[in-house]
Amino acid sequence: MAILFDQKTQVFTLQTRNSAYQMKVVDHGVLLHLYYGKKIDSCDMSYLIQWTDRGFCSNPYEMQMDRTFSLDHLPQEYPCYGIGDFRADCIKLVNPDGSCVVDYRYRSHRIEKGKYALAGLPALYADEDKAETLIVSMADASSGMELELYYGIIEEADVITRAAKIVNPTSKTVYIKKAMSFCLDFLQGQMDWIHFYGKHTMERQPERARLLHGRQASGSLRGTSSHQQNPFVILCDPESNEDHGDCYGASLVYSGSFLAEVELDQFDQARLVMGISPEEFNWQLGPGESFQTPEAVLIYSGEGFTGLSHRFHQAAQEHVIRGKWKDERRPVLLNNWEATYFDFDGDKLLKIAEGAKELGVEMLVLDDGWFGKRDSDYSGLGDWYVNEEKLGGTLKELVEKINALGLRFGLWVEPEMICEDSDLYRAHPDWALRVPGRPGNIGRSQFVLDYSRPEVVDHIRDMIFKILDEVNVEYVKWDFNRSISNYYSYALPAERQGEIGHRFVLGLYRFLEELHTRYPHILLEGCCGGGGRFDLGMLYYSPQIWCSDDTDAVERLKIQYGTSFGYPISAVGSHVSASPNHQTFRRTPFETRATVAMAGTFGYELDVNCLTKRDQAKVKRQIKEYKNEQDLICKGDYYRLSSPFEGHAAAWSFVSKDKRECLFCAVSTKLQSNPGAVYVKLKGLDPKLCYKMGERVYSGAALMYGGVLLPIPGEEYQSWRYHLKAVGK
Ligand code: DGJ
Repeated sequence: MAILFDQKTQVFTLQTRNSAYQMKVVDHGVLLHLYYGKKIDSCDMSYLIQWTDRGFCSNPYEMQMDRTFSLDHLPQEYPCYGIGDFRADCIKLVNPDGSCVVDYRYRSHRIEKGKYALAGLPALYADEDKAETLIVSMADASSGMELELYYGIIEEADVITRAAKIVNPTSKTVYIKKAMSFCLDFLQGQMDWIHFYGKHTMERQPERARLLHGRQASGSLRGTSSHQQNPFVILCDPESNEDHGDCYGASLVYSGSFLAEVELDQFDQARLVMGISPEEFNWQLGPGESFQTPEAVLIYSGEGFTGLSHRFHQAAQEHVIRGKWKDERRPVLLNNWEATYFDFDGDKLLKIAEGAKELGVEMLVLDDGWFGKRDSDYSGLGDWYVNEEKLGGTLKELVEKINALGLRFGLWVEPEMICEDSDLYRAHPDWALRVPGRPGNIGRSQFVLDYSRPEVVDHIRDMIFKILDEVNVEYVKWDFNRSISNYYSYALPAERQGEIGHRFVLGLYRFLEELHTRYPHILLEGCCGGGGRFDLGMLYYSPQIWCSDDTDAVERLKIQYGTSFGYPISAVGSHVSASPNHQTFRRTPFETRATVAMAGTFGYELDVNCLTKRDQAKVKRQIKEYKNEQDLICKGDYYRLSSPFEGHAAAWSFVSKDKRECLFCAVSTKLQSNPGAVYVKLKGLDPKLCYKMGERVYSGAALMYGGVLLPIPGEEYQSWRYHLKAVGK
């Protein structure tokens, strides 16, 4: 039993393999949070709360003379706005009388087998006997408004999920101004927080800071989870590192605008709330209607960041990613984007395909430019019909030729966008998100389609499905190349315009779900100008996501390092591209580009016919090597061994579950004359086993406690890959 309820103490204890989470119903139905951390029994942890009269901390009216009970400092499960808790809250409603106060109290609960699902939203899944659900029903006595708090426990995976549903059983309409997915309170709040910031071509850079008094936030107002901040954050003991310390990770299963607010309060307690960004949000909830928040995943690790990442990787791989491609080996692909950009025709593509096939590539992906009038990024989005003139025939014919070579075929789309210069815009100018009477703003010469309108989603879906029905497409790259602004939908009345952002995401999820159901064989790769929508919501539909538009191996070291904290390697779209690199103009060794791309789904983003014979031979060897290592890379345990932000080398490894195999990779990041020795200590090996590495055999203990001595680099950014294999028992 993962969920325990003690009738006498009114304590709920949620237990996973290594963690426990506790809450308690106290006087007048207030639901307090008591504990989250290393596994405990069901001992009532409320002894940790200090009941005392604190200045300027008001008390709920029912407490009368008891001044020790104040929501201003008590730890809570879902704090409400307007009732004397001035910290970051979870919910704010506008009642029919214009007041914004809501006061949810415990009413009942139920425990169910299996993990709940959320209609229309991605959510973690698990076998019925591997998960339990707790639903706590709350009500606001004055208004009659209701609330359901969802807790999903996947015991083996150390996962606790949270979500909330706001229900309006009254006869009046209310407005939801803020509805977060969860709150996590800590009585002892001296902690660090780590968030992952960035920009286009430099996503998910970890930034760690001590919590300051007051609120700190990360979030996105861009309509996507964004390049700039990621909906994954960590709170941890200040002394935590890769191997030690209490760490709490929270990841939102959502791909739209979000807010992660963290606050150190006046009594040095910490609070984290996360959910849909309340900034543009205003949801009309009519009588009998309900509103479902997205889900968030909480994971605790008492063994530092490595343990936390391993659990997040497992959660994503086993409980988020679905379908055929969850377990199946992904094809090594060649994407023509950096090989040709818009400058291609059918013959050119075929030549690239022939060259690629020769070297062992398994799939050709045709990127942007194959449809409508699309010879540059100034026009054509929305016109999802094949440009046969450009291809010199139908797409079906081209794909048949590619398939005849023994290559699979993949296709790029950007279904949420519309260019002003497109037939679609000329026919439906009102389908673009744009405020009437205002010029709006364009990003990459495109507007965003109004996906809050079902008919818009249906129209684009039908056009794209028509192609997928006719042509043997086995992979789709789903792109999104601007941030959303100028929210206005012609289909919604004034009082509902605050719903567009979330309705857009729901429209997107519906489309993706239909695609997943209708074409279960298709491998979807998410993309948003690279990694601008790298989140668990997208991973539910697309088992891999193009990690960044920066394909420079040295920049990718940092991007992939940051990404690895919250997301598995099998999800990281990563390719070998040309040198000098097209984004940074940096020159890097060919093998280093492969080393870095192998920490991901692996593929090529160049015309192999333009490579020297020597490099072509390398491609052949690299693909062979990757395919030998693919299971270890995608299913083994990933270790960050040395950070690309410090020292002389970035290093990482993949270790098989039985600890008998390891792929160790390192890239030299600093050249010096007269250099000192550079050592990297391996992790996750069996200290008692002996491993063959190169021509020598070392004990696991030697490699982990003494380390590996890296060779002196002979060129800038040289890299090394060593496969270690246990010898003997
Ligand atoms: C942005 C993507 O991230 C690139 O890989 C490429 O697909 C371009 N869009 C095409 O427009």
